[in-house]
Amino acid sequence: ANNLLWSSRFSSGPSDALAALSVSVHFDWRLAKYDIAGSRAHARALHRAGLLTDEELEGMLAGLDKLEQDVESGSFLPTVADEDCHTALERGLIERVGPQLGGKLRAGRSRNDQIATLGRMFLREHARVIGGLIADLQQALADQAEAHLGTPMPGRTHLQHAQPVLLAHHLLAHVHALGRDADRLHDWDRRTDVSPYGSGALAGSTLGLDPSAVAAELGFSASSANSIDGTASRDYVAEFAFVAAMIGVDVSRIAEEVILWTTKEFSFATLDDAYSTGSSIMPQKKNPDIAELARGKAGRLIGNVSGLLATLKALPLAYNRDLQEDKEPVFDSVDTLEVLLPAFTGMIATLTFHSERMAELAPQGFSLATDVAEWLVKKGVPFKVAHEVAGASVRYCEARGIELSDLTDEDLAAIDPKLTPEVKQVLTVPGSVASRDGRGGTAPDRVREQLAEVRALIAEQ
Ligand code: ARG
Repeated sequence: ANNLLWSSRFSSGPSDALAALSVSVHFDWRLAKYDIAGSRAHARALHRAGLLTDEELEGMLAGLDKLEQDVESGSFLPTVADEDCHTALERGLIERVGPQLGGKLRAGRSRNDQIATLGRMFLREHARVIGGLIADLQQALADQAEAHLGTPMPGRTHLQHAQPVLLAHHLLAHVHALGRDADRLHDWDRRTDVSPYGSGALAGSTLGLDPSAVAAELGFSASSANSIDGTASRDYVAEFAFVAAMIGVDVSRIAEEVILWTTKEFSFATLDDAYSTGSSIMPQKKNPDIAELARGKAGRLIGNVSGLLATLKALPLAYNRDLQEDKEPVFDSVDTLEVLLPAFTGMIATLTFHSERMAELAPQGFSLATDVAEWLVKKGVPFKVAHEVAGASVRYCEARGIELSDLTDEDLAAIDPKLTPEVKQVLTVPGSVASRDGRGGTAPDRVREQLAEVRALIAEQ
């Protein structure tokens, strides 16, 4: 005799090899609390349908409460012979209330509608946790931005000096990307707010159960409109994994910058000792391991979503056992973000920026050339000509090993008579930055406004 929920038509038990392949309890046990919540709601549905007496319902709920306590305390544990969390919990219930009552709970439900519901419950809860962790990271970035409203840095495209920007402006760009990720989680949640419980194996139930009452009890706004879709769909898993991967990718872009900024060559920032690591052989080392792990884990998160899509591709309706493969990758995505984000936030919050170094480099590499061109445009010069004159200035400086801000009135006149001495007003970093004062621009007033907007957005998330 075994404990399996399906052995009645079989004359022998499963081979050890099958059992070893089939078992999922070592990873689906973390769904136990959701399964018990589902069982409570299902017991009430059976009661309302007249399939459990008042007394039976009371006994069932008391048994489920006891089981939940024992699961929480660890005094009830699954064994590999249980196959999955549903099997283990039925055994646990029967051990507590006896086979006569415990054997009634399975009526009108299938592991197919159970697992489809539990996955949603688990991920919805963790989406909220991850949303909170994203907000913490945004907060840390916004705090750094606030502290560096007056710090210019070299803004880059193609990793080359492009135009000076404020460090605050740069950091807030990352906050916006993370804000869209938080928004994606909300949006995902709205679509996932549907309970498959009551779908049965695929076709629904003959027992007159009320899926919408179960849905409401489990925190969903509605139950599945189609029982086949309810049991067969896992786009909610793939989409969650995509959002997790997108978060990983957005964090990896910050990570890569931290890795560059903390090199000797950049010297833009220094990591706090508590958020950096050393070398077992090189005593001087201070390594950005958190940022590197973030970069690495982005790859892992992408792998999880790719794997899930591969599992779902061309899968016929309705439930197929392939779907058991949905859990480990998406659990891994959840665990990865929940361990990564707090460390990453700590690293950002404690990062020391070297403002003078950043400010010193901001005008180098001829990053004020666009300012020269746009100054000419304001004088009525066509941009095509302005671009040529500014380009000639760069060539002039490059040949002499100087920067645009080093040009004298004589140099300017020699390059082009249109370059009157007043152009020098824009050939400074503060002048350049302040002049980009349209919405979204890097002018200090605009960035200050943006910071306030961002703080309000984070609070609303
Ligand atoms: N463990 C399965 C899963 O994770 C759920 C059980 C459904 N199993 C079945 N043989 N119908 O998808």
